[in-house]
Amino acid sequence: MANIGIFCATAGGTSMKIADALAEAFEVDEVINMEDDFDDVEQLQEYDVLFIGSSTWGQGDVHHSWVDPLFEISSDGIDFSGKKVAFFGAGDSVKHGEHFCSALGKLHKAFVDAGATPFGYFPKDGYNYEFSLAELDDKLCGLAIDEHNESDKTPKRIETWIESLKSEI
Ligand SMILES: Cc1cc2nc3c(=O)[nH]c(=O)nc-3n(C[C@H](O)[C@H](O)[C@H](O)COP(=O)(O)O)c2cc1C
Repeated sequence: MANIGIFCATAGGTSMKIADALAEAFEVDEVINMEDDFDDVEQLQEYDVLFIGSSTWGQGDVHHSWVDPLFEISSDGIDFSGKKVAFFGAGDSVKHGEHFCSALGKLHKAFVDAGATPFGYFPKDGYNYEFSLAELDDKLCGLAIDEHNESDKTPKRIETWIESLKSEI
């Protein structure tokens, strides 16, 4: 099994549902909570495969705990070549449907610009948002969940995503 790191930023624990399911499926001992356990960007580089999570805030922003790491990644030229990275997080497609889970798109851009190979794109069928920076090439660039409006779809979405990740790793 590849050396896998799971990094998750969450305010209310919703995105952590995905992180915990990933940890179980891929037998990863610990989810790194960005607020409590994150030290520096070098910590991200210890892994060959990264699962990067954030809920979305403000107007399509990443959780605040990702702001400094993303700035460092771009300004210090941190190199993620050779690393496979998949993205996940929670949002609200009704109240914030104008930027549903856009944090995934911002994370995706930062890591891909730094040389990472993205994987784990997810079909956008069945979602009901107006706009999202997570939408790329007619797919979502990772797993988005909406526990406010579509909680009934979450278990299947997580299950389907994890199955496809297993085949892509
Ligand atoms: C002030 C505020 C701004 C928000 N902005 C967005 C947004 O731009 N896009 C979105 O999809 N969700 C947005 N949300 C919804 C949260 O992302 C959502 O509640 C999510 O489930 C939180 O997940 P967490 O518990 O993992 O932090 C916002 C919520 C609040 C309270």
